[in-house]
Amino acid sequence: MHTKILIIGAGGQIGLALTRKLKAIYESKNVLATDLRADEENEILPLDVLDSQALYTFVKTYQITEIYHLAAILSASGELNPQKAWKINIDGLFNVLEVSRELKVSKVFFPSTIAVFGDHIDQSNCANYVPLLPKTVYGISKVAGELWAAYYFDKFGLDIRSLRYPGVIGYQSLPGGGTTDYAVDIFLADFAQKPFECFLAADRALPMIFMDDAIDATISLMQADKAKLTVRTSYNIHAMSFTPSEIAAEIQRHNPKFDIIYKPDFRDEIAKTWPAIIDDSLARQDWQWKPKYDLSKLVQVMRDNIHQLASKQQ
Ligand SMILES: NC(=O)c1ccc[n+]([C@@H]2O[C@H](COP(=O)([O-])OP(=O)(O)OC[C@H]3O[C@@H](n4cnc5c(N)ncnc54)[C@H](O)[C@@H]3O)[C@@H](O)[C@H]2O)c1
Repeated sequence: MHTKILIIGAGGQIGLALTRKLKAIYESKNVLATDLRADEENEILPLDVLDSQALYTFVKTYQITEIYHLAAILSASGELNPQKAWKINIDGLFNVLEVSRELKVSKVFFPSTIAVFGDHIDQSNCANYVPLLPKTVYGISKVAGELWAAYYFDKFGLDIRSLRYPGVIGYQSLPGGGTTDYAVDIFLADFAQKPFECFLAADRALPMIFMDDAIDATISLMQADKAKLTVRTSYNIHAMSFTPSEIAAEIQRHNPKFDIIYKPDFRDEIAKTWPAIIDDSLARQDWQWKPKYDLSKLVQVMRDNIHQLASKQQ
């Protein structure tokens, strides 16, 4: 069957980069990017995932065969408005699941997160299958989402695939209200030659991934042989782990004048409950996941390209 892709939440940090890559693979005419508001520059059509009727009409009209459902309220923004986060993250996913079941969409991608983890995990090597006891509404909504994904696969045979993204760092787009956003903002401060005020503690280690690796992981998982996939909740993927002081030191190797000041706020309390390293052996085994970027390559590529993001900020 001819592939026709719908991306929901395509105007966000990951959506913009993912749309570009999918268009390069499947041709622009086969990739329909949507978000709450139309955006002519990025060829984004308006579609509210909470409007189940509009979603149904869209999927039917364009004969969509694959959906990448990215729309969500992230960890830090979710804590500021828990009801809104729950509504968008859960009702939105439900609308996607139902339309996919009714119209027999052949594959769905649903991103999960390291925010599903909380108490009673090994923070230094967190396995795929552990208690999921998150402390944020975002994490709770993503645990519920993972379980609904597995339910739709088991009950209805819906081929829904999921990854637990670490903090995603890229120069392609601005981050949208997550606890790991500092690791993008730090490069904007370096570029502007300003001291960086960090909202996490100096020694708060978290799993992180460069945007290109996150996009490659997403597409590899979606293209993987269905028979090889053993995880139907969500796959851990790991690329690198660092603390704010470690990334600052790596930036200082390039710019010795770079200065960082630590002012931990509520986001540090969120990050405290997350693992520093996650064990992604199932992803490596089932669909040969392997990242290309470590901390030193990340800092190099971000410093070389951050001017692109700085120009979007103005
Ligand atoms: N960025 C990260 O570090 C990270 C880490 C783990 C998981 N994720 C997951 O990846 C996905 C994408 O994240 P992101 O960083 O690009 O987020 P983002 O906040 O940058 O983008 C989300 C997009 O969804 C859109 N949206 C919100 N409500 C909508 C609605 N009702 N209908 C349609 N669109 C709506 C927003 O306008 C926004 O453009 C999310 O599901 C997120 O939970 C992201």
